[in-house]
Amino acid sequence: MKIQGSVALVTGANRGLGAAFARTLLAAGAAKVYAAARDPSTVTVPGVVPVPLDVTILDQIKALAHELGDVSLLVNNAGIGGSGPVLDPTSIDRLHQQFETNAVGPLRMVQAFAPTLAARGDSAVINVISALSWATLPGVTGSYSASKAAAWALSNAMRQELKAQGTEVLSLHVAFMDTDMARGAPGPKSSPDEVARLGIAALEAGHSELLADDVTRSVHAGLTAVPPMYLGMLA
Ligand SMILES: NC(=O)c1ccc[n+]([C@@H]2O[C@H](COP(=O)([O-])OP(=O)(O)OC[C@H]3O[C@@H](n4cnc5c(N)ncnc54)[C@H](OP(=O)(O)O)[C@@H]3O)[C@@H](O)[C@H]2O)c1
Repeated sequence: MKIQGSVALVTGANRGLGAAFARTLLAAGAAKVYAAARDPSTVTVPGVVPVPLDVTILDQIKALAHELGDVSLLVNNAGIGGSGPVLDPTSIDRLHQQFETNAVGPLRMVQAFAPTLAARGDSAVINVISALSWATLPGVTGSYSASKAAAWALSNAMRQELKAQGTEVLSLHVAFMDTDMARGAPGPKSSPDEVARLGIAALEAGHSELLADDVTRSVHAGLTAVPPMYLGMLA
């Protein structure tokens, strides 16, 4: 889709990659960017329209979809981390929260906004997923990876189901970025502004999937390695 003249809604747009998407979309010519945040007073990107949204609250999603009738690009960016072994009983609460935020939330957003996107014609959804949808850091990201694997599967299903109405779906997979979420993580980190720029370029080029960095491309290639990467390479 073309960004010039589009109207975007970015979830979790008060910081990290969401703020980067909001900035980059405006710079790329979006006519309007709704910057959704649990607390809209924390949105600092100049020129955007802050709106309240917790992606785990269905009534808020429905109210926003009712209010914003001009959205042509939905960026499902909001997400939560959280780590620990899945065999620890406390992982169940974390798993529920991560699924609600990282997988169910984006699906509810697409359900609510699909009619609006259909009415706009040239329309799209970007789902921010992760390299960890295909790999697990042992004892650390089991529940997060499970939520992002679900988000990946749902993104593929959304693409199939939205095709008939002409709405494109881009799955954006990325490894560590320089944001609050990965503050304590070691190793190289991508710039969120660069990832947003790549995401927008991929969408404009008509791609369905973006592997945003070398680590993500290597994890993806490892799916078909012998033995496959998820059977132990990261251990
Ligand atoms: N950082 C990484 O290394 C990395 C790697 C791969 C994928 N990702 C994905 O990239 C996306 C953006 O993450 P980030 O790195 O920018 O993380 P971040 O700096 O921690 O920002 C997360 C954003 O999501 C929002 N959020 C969390 N729960 C929400 C909810 N229930 N409703 C609405 N907004 C909610 C946060 O809002 P509050 O300010 O209210 O908490 C914040 O705006 C996420 O989907 C994440 O899983 C990140």
